Amino acid sequence: MIRIAFYDTKEYDRQSFGQYGALHDIQFRFLETRLNEDTVELAKGCDAVCVFVNDTVNAMVIDRLYAFGIRLIALRCAGYNNVDVKAAFGKIHVVRVPAYSPYAIAEHAIALLLTSVRRIHKAYNRTRDFNFSLNGLTGFDFHGKTVGVIGTGKIGRIFIDICRGFGMNVIAYDRFPAKDAGIDYVTLEQLFEQSDIISLHCPLTDETRHMIRADSIEKMKKGVVIVNTSRGGLIDAEALLDGIKARKIGAACLDVYEEEADIFFEDRSGHIPDDDLLTRLISMPNVIVTSHQAFLTNEALDNIARTTVENILSFYEKDGLCDNELCYHCGHIEECRKERKERCF
Ligand code: NAI
Repeated sequence: MIRIAFYDTKEYDRQSFGQYGALHDIQFRFLETRLNEDTVELAKGCDAVCVFVNDTVNAMVIDRLYAFGIRLIALRCAGYNNVDVKAAFGKIHVVRVPAYSPYAIAEHAIALLLTSVRRIHKAYNRTRDFNFSLNGLTGFDFHGKTVGVIGTGKIGRIFIDICRGFGMNVIAYDRFPAKDAGIDYVTLEQLFEQSDIISLHCPLTDETRHMIRADSIEKMKKGVVIVNTSRGGLIDAEALLDGIKARKIGAACLDVYEEEADIFFEDRSGHIPDDDLLTRLISMPNVIVTSHQAFLTNEALDNIARTTVENILSFYEKDGLCDNELCYHCGHIEECRKERKERCF
């Protein structure tokens, strides 16, 4: 029996993970709280922890988990900016779900974009109130517009394919451009200058943090629409708000927000909002916020649960080799042991 402390549990997690756990003799200790310095004790007696995007897995938490005998952190998400992988190295192995449904995220980005540009959210509210006026609902055609895609990995490329279906002109920037992918790569500066729509699909790293900030917004076209389904920290939200107030940014579609950790995924209706910046953003007529929902499809949830359980089993039951393990050497070919089909440590 493998015992897993499962942090930040939601109802949909219980369903999808419960069924796979029962098949493989894995016992999940479903905890509603997030993992952080105060809640790490709850993992005592378990063999591993399973965490999501807003759990805090810093050096202190890692040391405590290690002291409890925990040797595996199983992320049930793709991004791992919330895990100090350097602190974990040599102590606790980290596995993740690198791809569960890139379609879910790319399609949500498109859904946000269409909703925003064609004012669907406004029309929905109006017609429910028997207001059939069209004033203020004018959008623009996607066809012929230039969309700039930052990050052309799994999600970015699907997003590009969908945009091409609309007849859009696609340009892209990636720190590591894909060879022979038929993508028209430009510099980041050119992308800012030429795009009518900008969609973010790169990871949050020290390099990409606040890549959308005052000086980058300055370079953009007036009326640009910004879509972020990646990580909130990619955008300096204060600068975004300034750009909106200056009428420079035409619309913003945000599935993520830098300070989302204590806000998103929970029902906060009836609470006085503490985050003034988010409150001001939400109050803007041209901003749509969804609460980190892009991954939420049946297919994605099933893939997340199945892959996480496979990751856990490969760690405990086979030779410990897991394709989805990651460490801070990942991406550095010469230092990466996984490239040589060995465990990270
Ligand atoms: P991926 O790893 O397949 O692609 C990321 C791409 O970004 C790669 O092509 C990489 O070369 C590029 N990149 C890395 N550093 C860059 C930089 N400095 N500038 C520009 N490009 C850079 O990742 P995938 O699966 O496409 O996911 C992208 C992001 O989407 C994840 O990092 C995650 O943060 C976010 N995500 C959001 C979800 C949501 O529910 N809102 C769900 C899943 C992922």
